[in-house]
Amino acid sequence: MAISPKIVISDLKAPVNGTLVVITDEDLEFGTASKAALKPSGDLFQRVAKIEKFKGKRSKVLDLAAPSGLKLEHVLVAGVGKAKDMKAEDWLKLGGTIMGRLPAAARNVTVLAELPGGKLAAGDAAQVALGMKLRAYKFDRYKTKKKPEDDEKPHAVEVKFGVEDVAGTKKAWAHASGVGDGIILARELVNEPPNVLFPAEFARRASELKKLGVQIEVLDEPAMKKLGMNALLAVGQGSERDSRLVVMRWNGAKKKSETPVAIVGKGVCFDTGGISIKPAASMEDMKGDMAGAACVTGLMHALAARKAEANVIGVIGIVENMPDGNSYRPGDILKSYSGQTIEVINTDAEGRLVLCDALAYTNERFKPKLIIDLATLTGAILVALGQEYAGMFSNDDKLAERLTEAGKVTGEHVWRMPLGPVYDKMIDSKFADMKNTGGRFAGSITAAQFLQRYVGKTPWAHLDIAGTGMAAHNTEIGDSWGPGWGVRLLNEFIAAHYEK
Ligand code: BES
Ligand code: MN
Ligand code: ZN
Repeated sequence: MAISPKIVISDLKAPVNGTLVVITDEDLEFGTASKAALKPSGDLFQRVAKIEKFKGKRSKVLDLAAPSGLKLEHVLVAGVGKAKDMKAEDWLKLGGTIMGRLPAAARNVTVLAELPGGKLAAGDAAQVALGMKLRAYKFDRYKTKKKPEDDEKPHAVEVKFGVEDVAGTKKAWAHASGVGDGIILARELVNEPPNVLFPAEFARRASELKKLGVQIEVLDEPAMKKLGMNALLAVGQGSERDSRLVVMRWNGAKKKSETPVAIVGKGVCFDTGGISIKPAASMEDMKGDMAGAACVTGLMHALAARKAEANVIGVIGIVENMPDGNSYRPGDILKSYSGQTIEVINTDAEGRLVLCDALAYTNERFKPKLIIDLATLTGAILVALGQEYAGMFSNDDKLAERLTEAGKVTGEHVWRMPLGPVYDKMIDSKFADMKNTGGRFAGSITAAQFLQRYVGKTPWAHLDIAGTGMAAHNTEIGDSWGPGWGVRLLNEFIAAHYEK
């Protein structure tokens, strides 16, 4: 579990044994050190490339096993196509692809991270290393029987990462590996089963960020009751496990009094639907209904680990939604922290109830520059956008644009969806200020309209990550069920706009 290779940044010295990874382009050229390392094998690479029709295309890898003339076990030649077209995300994917192609039992691995035409920028090199780290992650804590081939897998390998700019890359890697640890933390939280990761345990794990200098406050049920967070508390009411709200603060800005950015996450450790119970099929997936909170926690880890020069508040509402004799019911009317009342139509529309109190509290207490929330909020967003884009809803064009841009840089894409008075009307209630569902149509939008009623005029963006935050498919950077989605997106967003 959480195996990550030890990445050691060093100079461009090639190994004499083990596995060597070199980079080539569509002209099948190499950097100086790589060329020198391959020289004793003569035209072996060119001949194999021809036979295998290897053209050095992006993310294609050619494996030269037991290359004649060299004592090496393997030379992996990784293609980048046109090097100048490679963006940060492409370098990340390249690293992941390389990790995935490391031969079984590879122990002594060296990557010569250099380019045919010149040097590889430190930031890009660090992305390659990050891709390797993320691809190596496995969640197998609960498997008690090792398979015979497990010993053969490239686990816990030490990777020597040769670069021209050693000092620059070391610095870039110190940052990128911190982000990697944040992503891996988010993945762990999403992957953990709901009997292990219940609200108090989630809060305990978030509290461990204290070690990195994050200030932590945990509100328990009596504290939330006193504050009037009755919407959040209603969701947890039917559960044996008590709810929590965790406030995480990273004060890294040069100006300590700088107004913070706030990130809020939905943390439903398990969503049965409550009295409006869900069908049995795939209900086990609802252990991932805390992916928003996991992202916030992973992001706070990342920011602290790389000592981000920004003031950021992370707030997570953590509950379990269960049916019980004490559960909240359809028909109940709740008075939320903001004072607005909510008629419960469906106890399975619980995420917005958790978030409305977390959002209103965050907004009132911290008066942040802006609020971004992340939530596995609606099945409808999966219908609309699948697992490729998160749905984004915002009351602020600049914020929406910046998030879209950060999505393009990181490959964690967001797609803006509409908000408006006509949709807002759909959640008006006969008996209270609003109801918690808006009917069959536009389910993701009416959910967002609900949240908008709790953020006032503060610039706000809501990311519906029901599609992107869990049950991920395999990619270059890993096959984790919980992908840790959003950590890179928000890390990039903060780095690009709030650390200047
Ligand atoms: N956690 C679910 C949304 C969800 C569905 C997340 C699939 C991930 C994958 C949420 O709490 C929920 O149940 N939403 C309902 C809302 C409805 C009752 C208005 C939904 O989407 O069906
Ligand atoms: Mn639900
Ligand atoms: Zn839910």
